[in-house]
Amino acid sequence: MAVKGIILLLDLYFLLCRADEGINFTVSVFENAKIGTSVVSLPKMLGEEKAELPCVMLDGDRYGRFSVSTNCTVVVARPLDWSVQSEYLLKLRVGGLQDPGHHVVRIKLNVRNVSGYPPVYNETCETPINLTGNRSNEFQFSISLSAEAETAAGDVVSYETTISKPFERWKMDDNSKLVITTDNNCQVRMAFAVRNLKDVAFESGQWKRRENSYQVLSCHAESDDILSELSIELFDHKNHREDLRYLEQQIPQAIEKLQNPILIWLLSFAFPTKSKTRYVCQFLTLLDPFEISHKQFGRNVIVHVETLTLDFTPVGCGPGKYGILCDQICICKNGARCHGFNGACKCTAGWQGVACDIPKPGVSVTTIPSDLSDIYISANVTVHCQVHHVSATMLALRLPDGSEIARSNATRLEQTLFNLQSRDNGPYKCRASDADGNVFNATIVLDIAKCPPNRKGELCDEACDCLQGATCDWRAGCVCPPGWTGTRCQATCPNGTFGERCLKKCRCRNGASCSPSDGKCTCTAGWYGLWCDVPCPRYRHGLGCRLTCTCKNNATCDNVDGSCTCVAHWTGKNCDEKQAEPLLESLVPIGSMIVLAGCVATIIMLYKRKQVCGREPDRDGETEALLQLEQVCWFVCSSRRLH
Ligand SMILES: *[C@@H]1O[C@H](CO)[C@@H](O)[C@H](O)[C@H]1NC(C)=O
Ligand SMILES: *[C@@H]1O[C@H](CO)[C@@H](O)[C@H](O)[C@H]1NC(C)=O
Ligand SMILES: *[C@@H]1O[C@H](CO)[C@@H](O)[C@H](O)[C@H]1NC(C)=O
Ligand SMILES: *[C@@H]1O[C@H](CO)[C@@H](O)[C@H](O)[C@H]1NC(C)=O
Ligand SMILES: *[C@@H]1O[C@H](CO)[C@@H](O)[C@H](O)[C@H]1NC(C)=O
Ligand SMILES: *[C@@H]1O[C@H](CO)[C@@H](O)[C@H](O)[C@H]1NC(C)=O
Ligand SMILES: *[C@@H]1O[C@H](CO)[C@@H](O)[C@H](O)[C@H]1NC(C)=O
Ligand SMILES: *[C@@H]1O[C@H](CO)[C@@H](O)[C@H](O)[C@H]1NC(C)=O
Ligand SMILES: *[C@@H]1O[C@H](CO)[C@@H](O)[C@H](O)[C@H]1NC(C)=O
Ligand SMILES: *[C@@H]1O[C@H](CO)[C@@H](O)[C@H](O)[C@H]1NC(C)=O
Ligand SMILES: *[C@@H]1O[C@H](CO)[C@@H](O)[C@H](O)[C@H]1NC(C)=O
Repeated sequence: MAVKGIILLLDLYFLLCRADEGINFTVSVFENAKIGTSVVSLPKMLGEEKAELPCVMLDGDRYGRFSVSTNCTVVVARPLDWSVQSEYLLKLRVGGLQDPGHHVVRIKLNVRNVSGYPPVYNETCETPINLTGNRSNEFQFSISLSAEAETAAGDVVSYETTISKPFERWKMDDNSKLVITTDNNCQVRMAFAVRNLKDVAFESGQWKRRENSYQVLSCHAESDDILSELSIELFDHKNHREDLRYLEQQIPQAIEKLQNPILIWLLSFAFPTKSKTRYVCQFLTLLDPFEISHKQFGRNVIVHVETLTLDFTPVGCGPGKYGILCDQICICKNGARCHGFNGACKCTAGWQGVACDIPKPGVSVTTIPSDLSDIYISANVTVHCQVHHVSATMLALRLPDGSEIARSNATRLEQTLFNLQSRDNGPYKCRASDADGNVFNATIVLDIAKCPPNRKGELCDEACDCLQGATCDWRAGCVCPPGWTGTRCQATCPNGTFGERCLKKCRCRNGASCSPSDGKCTCTAGWYGLWCDVPCPRYRHGLGCRLTCTCKNNATCDNVDGSCTCVAHWTGKNCDEKQAEPLLESLVPIGSMIVLAGCVATIIMLYKRKQVCGREPDRDGETEALLQLEQVCWFVCSSRRLH
């Protein structure tokens, strides 16, 4: 039976309501109750333990939200939505018509508001619908990872890869390893469980502790007006309680769902855009993570990551699917579009409710063609009025000039406007009324472009003839794609600029060229890094630091051309030749130079004193001393020479 295995209603209470005449019971159900949830079991409530009581819904459930099972249980049959209907007055007949004991039971059913439900369709991050690919169990984004790093051997290696589906070893079928949530603000959070400590290369002690977690990787994207962040955080079982509380705030019941793992990685990112976004990342560890891996795995491994970028490109899910892995099934009905993040439905005119399956009485107005760029002076446009779920006795279209076209008992009305002129600009108001006097209305405002396609100027006498697939605006001319400029988008952005309308400044250094479309730098010889501002490692030079320096004997190697600057005593192109023998004197160490200078100064001084005082040389010991000193000095000097 359909009711079997039902998730029991969280909140179900019975209230005998004798004061409220005609209503026997009041029950309530949360608006996010799953299909199949039993709301109320009549036999139980009435104390009639009959196994098979035929029950029939007589009234109060106009849009088939509930069904009655064979054992007379009221069950949720279609999605509920508190904002559309918060109260149902159900009338059920208990027992067959032939059964003399049959009677009518009235149930007042309150739908209870649930915070955060239904999901919001956020246009900011609407994702494409992919009609071509078979995208089951693939990511809704393709992620291009690009990294440059220095190895223990001193090489610069670059790495690029594109990830479009989860790796095999993540074992996606094992739900307990991965929990993904998405919210109404284009924020995605993914928690991965680590159960086997062998998988964990690093201990949390090496990561930088932030407020509530160990921050591992922090990335940011700079787009025109958005600042978007991507971060990877690590939680372990030794963490403080507040940390785990923080994790639970990010992903409710994460720890329980991941079955108490040893470590949890949390990846979170906001994606408030519909287009490709580049994140530039930084590791936030005390040690460079690859320094750690170097210690673990030996020599020729990465020791330092210089650049790490992640390009997220929305690819979209196939029709009727949503979720980061495109593995969830959309509930949207009646042509509604399903949001790729959270499955929220964008209803077409005339429908409402979380699944767009509840008729919304009203009227809508549209134009054919619908694209505003096709609505211009001299074009022909048809304005359509359409009635939805209303028996309209009168349908009327009011034009900007105040005139009105009306038709009775019609469901649709159209008016073609030939050869549009600027006086046709303004509101087109559709109004429908039914026999009960209810009035419904809808309005569309025409803003007619002055010129036909590919024409611009006050008199529309100039051709746009845009290149690069650019569109032509009658006032602004060609609206070029990023990286292009000129009246016809015929030129790339001037040096030093890039992006839309060439408004962004390039950050490339050291003569690197800058891609006009996205500002990506292509480094010249001797440099690497995101902005080409990091010189090649010590023993490397040239383009992409791919050449090995030939300099010997501690010479420094030029990062650009590999030329060597020798240290003392060495010469030659590679500093591998000894310098020629210099004069001996010049080799006299500074110590004996000082002794020599001291000798000379003393001798001169003593001679001078003798001359001034005119003493007899043999009357004191000074002459003796002088002679001895002369000998010492001579010995020092000659012994130096003899070396
Ligand atoms: C009614 O029947 C369904 C299965 O058909 C069963 O799961 C449910 O428990 C029954 N309810 C009562 C009150 O017997
Ligand atoms: C429910 O209310 C109706 C009308 O008020 C009454 O006739 C009927 O006996 C009531 N049923 C029960 C089970 O109380
Ligand atoms: C119902 O919930 C929504 C958000 O979930 C909230 O904005 C609204 O105020 C709630 N209304 C009531 C009456 O509680
Ligand atoms: C649709 O998905 C396939 C891969 O499954 C991809 O190659 C293709 O580019 C996607 N189409 C669009 C329009 O993104
Ligand atoms: C899509 O892929 C799934 C498995 O990945 C496969 O079972 C299914 O047959 C494929 N469908 C089509 C239309 O290729
Ligand atoms: C959509 O997401 C952005 C942030 O990405 C948020 O500012 C905005 O309020 C959201 N819109 C709705 C309707 O929730
Ligand atoms: C508008 O319709 C008229 C009459 O059908 C036709 O002659 C004219 O070419 C149309 N104008 C355009 C721009 O299609
Ligand atoms: C419109 O329909 C109503 C009821 O169906 C009918 O009484 C009325 O005469 C109709 N009006 C016209 C103009 O056909
Ligand atoms: C049209 O509908 C709006 C509300 O949607 C209402 O404020 C307005 O009075 C209506 N106008 C007419 C002419 O009924
Ligand atoms: C732009 O830079 C390139 C390469 O550096 C150079 O060849 C070219 O002449 C420059 N163009 C202008 C307009 O400065
Ligand atoms: C290079 O310099 C280091 C210290 O700066 C020194 O220990 C080493 O001996 C030198 N090697 C040569 C070949 O001169």
